[in-house]
Amino acid sequence: MSQCLPPNMAFERGEPKGARPLDFSLDRPPMGFTLDKVVPWGRSYDEYVSMFGLTESDLELRILGCGDGPAAFNSALCKRGGNIVSVDPIYIFDAAQIRSRISDTHEAVMTQMRKNKCDYVWEAIPSVEQLGNVRLSAMETFLADFEIGKCEGRYIAGELPSLPFESGQFDIALSSHFLFLYSAHLSAEFHLQALQEMLRVAHEVRVFPLLALDGTPSPHIDFVSNNLENHGFSVAVKRVPYEFQRGGNDMLVVKPV
Ligand SMILES: C[S@@+](CC[C@H](N)C(=O)[O-])C[C@H]1O[C@@H](n2cnc3c(N)ncnc32)[C@H](O)[C@@H]1O
Repeated sequence: MSQCLPPNMAFERGEPKGARPLDFSLDRPPMGFTLDKVVPWGRSYDEYVSMFGLTESDLELRILGCGDGPAAFNSALCKRGGNIVSVDPIYIFDAAQIRSRISDTHEAVMTQMRKNKCDYVWEAIPSVEQLGNVRLSAMETFLADFEIGKCEGRYIAGELPSLPFESGQFDIALSSHFLFLYSAHLSAEFHLQALQEMLRVAHEVRVFPLLALDGTPSPHIDFVSNNLENHGFSVAVKRVPYEFQRGGNDMLVVKPV
């Protein structure tokens, strides 16, 4: 990359000002970049299955998670015998650094979530307090697995739009809460390059959600869809059984025609 994101960039709308989803190149962190600019916030295995409509047979495929951060999906799927690799710039840090940052930021995130409560659907997760527990539990699952998973090559430090993988190395590449969510900060061209790169390394790409941080549909969807369709891919919007950000229950599925 690195397309710079503003210093008030948050991982999720409820997160505090001062956070950003990392705006540095792996080998050349910008002057002054430190972990204190990162707000870790990771989702559970069940949320991933639901967000991406993953079937039992999907879960047996070779899966790449782009921007998985401190989510529990990799760890939980690996324990179920799945074949999963996650790539994220945050993986240059170690588990102790990420753990410490989680505890430093958790209360501020919860305060913001309480403030923005009306922007979310409180059904599968019925309250802000339970959301906090779900997120902390997911991140604990990730942390417990992170160092061993790094040794096994399941957590790779890297960043879109350039991935350190062979062409066709995966069956499905997923993006949860990265592409389209940060549409105000990452250009349409960045999104196109990122999706093309995911399609280079995987046969099929799924992206969730299709909303930006402010809850409106991403303005980049038409641009990337038209471009990909003109280059031999089918692009479909599919309804999924997951809605937390209000109105966010669609995923994008892209594959060769
Ligand atoms: C909101 S978090 C989502 C984490 C996880 N996917 C989930 O849904 O729980 C966004 C993630 O995108 C990662 N990220 C930021 N820039 C990235 C890039 N250029 N390529 C891949 N991931 C990136 C961040 O480090 C962060 O872990």
